Amino acid sequence: MEKIVILTGAGISAESGLGTFRDAGGLWAQYPIEDVATPEGFARDPGLVHAFYNARRIQAAKAEPNAAHTALARLQRDWPGDVVIVTQNVDSLHEAGGAEGVLHMHGILSGALCAACGHRWQSPPEMNVGELCPSCQSPSARPDIVWFGEMPYDMDTIYDHLAEARIFAAIGTSGQVYPAAAFVHEAIAAGARTVELNLEPSAGVSSFDETAFGLATQIVPRWVDGMLGQR
Ligand code: OAD
Repeated sequence: MEKIVILTGAGISAESGLGTFRDAGGLWAQYPIEDVATPEGFARDPGLVHAFYNARRIQAAKAEPNAAHTALARLQRDWPGDVVIVTQNVDSLHEAGGAEGVLHMHGILSGALCAACGHRWQSPPEMNVGELCPSCQSPSARPDIVWFGEMPYDMDTIYDHLAEARIFAAIGTSGQVYPAAAFVHEAIAAGARTVELNLEPSAGVSSFDETAFGLATQIVPRWVDGMLGQR
């Protein structure tokens, strides 16, 4: 059966109260990327970086999945083929909404990573400078977030799925961060039909066969209904 690959971004969690990055007043307007989302920033001031992600972890823990998250979980359950969800988001709202096997290419707020040995484990709600890695005991614990200049997770698996995609949908992402922004081209090369669901057209909108613009909580359930023949 036809495989659907879905790429989500911050826009799908916006109505759950989690801020996006590049909209007016977004996170990157409040905090310089190079300070809080690069390995160099962490080396310079780990306390600032931990404070930033501790605040986001607390906020994400309070957030509830919205109708867009649950609609994608419903598509996963009811579509006769595979539905693979790849997210750039570091929250766990897809899982909270019932989705399974979500690929978190940019890491996850609930994770900790040892900068010395690469061991990954469940992060405490609050991480502090110099916390010990439970595997190698080095004081190198950091958030398990993929920062600029680092390699996103699961890329081989994601490219394998894209090569088999019959339908590719990008949801709530500005399409400005690579490699995710190029997934649509991989999907096109594989012969997939491409769909953009977003608040407004992204810079790459011309690559999509089908588009719908508006709030994720409205347009995503509507698209899923259509896919499942309930339009
Ligand atoms: P952006 O903030 O760049 O884009 C969010 C997108 O969601 C924009 O296209 C908005 O128009 C759209 N949007 C906002 N509210 C929406 C709503 N209610 N319904 C539907 N769409 C809405 O976020 P991303 O594209 O996810 O990486 O950013 C990609 C990566 O850049 C992030 O994963 C993060 C950031 O730097 C890291 O931190 C590693």
